[in-house]
Amino acid sequence: MSLEHDLESLAIDIAREAGELARTRREAGVAIAATKTALADIVTEADREVEALIRARLTAARPDDGFLGEETGGDSGESGVTWVVDPIDGTVNYAYGIPSYAVSIAAVRGEPTPGEWEALAGVVYTPALGEMFHAARGEGAWLGVNRLSVNPEVGGAGALLATGFGYDPATRPGDIELIGRVMPAVPARDLRRGGSAASDLAFVAAGRLDGYFERGLAPWDLAAGSLLVTEAGGRFGRAEPDGGPRAPLVVAATPAIFDRLAEAAGLA
Ligand code: IPD
Ligand code: CA
Repeated sequence: MSLEHDLESLAIDIAREAGELARTRREAGVAIAATKTALADIVTEADREVEALIRARLTAARPDDGFLGEETGGDSGESGVTWVVDPIDGTVNYAYGIPSYAVSIAAVRGEPTPGEWEALAGVVYTPALGEMFHAARGEGAWLGVNRLSVNPEVGGAGALLATGFGYDPATRPGDIELIGRVMPAVPARDLRRGGSAASDLAFVAAGRLDGYFERGLAPWDLAAGSLLVTEAGGRFGRAEPDGGPRAPLVVAATPAIFDRLAEAAGLA
C-alpha cells in the first residue's frame, strides 16, 4: 500500500471516532467555551475535546508527523508530513443543531500553508449525516465506497454555486458585492450558504454543487476538501488578490465553469 493510502486509512478511522464524539456531545447539549476572532466566531467545548482526541490518536500512530489544528495551533514534525485538522468545521451549525458540520483531517507534505503544501490524503466526515468523503493523492475521491466525480457539464439554467462568509462583519459588504458579480457572470441558477467550507468542497467533488467560492478561509477549512475536489476531476484555486494573506480567495468548481467563476471572482 502507498503512503497516501495508509494516511487516508488512518484519517478515516480517526475521523469516525472523532465524529462520534462530536455527535454524542451535541446530543448532550452544546456549551460555548469562548469567542475567538469576532463575537460570532465561537468555539465549543466539543471543538476542543474533538481536536484533542484527533491529536492524541495521530501522535500515537505517527509520532514524527507535524500537526496544525484550528483550536490548538501547530507543531512541526520530522517526517515531512503534517496533519491539518479542523475538528468541527461548521461550528455555528453545530451550536444551532444544524446537521451540516464536519470533521476535516488532511495529511500534507511540505509547509502547512495552502499553495506550498502537497496534499497527500484528506477526509471530510459529517457525523450527523454519516457521510465519509475521503481521498488519497492519485487514487481518486470517494464517498464511502462510491467513487466521486464533479459534474461534467452545467445545464442551461446555470450553475448551482455555494459560498460562505467570514466572521468579521467588516468583510460582509465585500462578500455581498462578490456574489453580485459572480452570479450573473457564471451564470448561477442559485446560491447556497451551507455553513461548512469543508462540506462545500466535498459537495463540489460529489457533483452536489457545480462551484464554490469564499474569501478568508483558513488552511484547516480547505486542506482535505481541496484534495477531494481535484481527485474528483475538479479544479481548485486560491489567491490573495486584495486583502492579503488574511483574506485569501478560494474557488473550486467543475472544469465546465471554473474559468468563468474564477474570472468573475477575481482569482486570476
Ligand atoms: C467556518 C465554516 C464556514 C465558513 C467560515 C469558516 P468553522 O469554519 O467553514 O462555512 O464560511 O469561513 O470559518 O469556524 O465553523 O470551523
Ligand atoms: Ca473551519
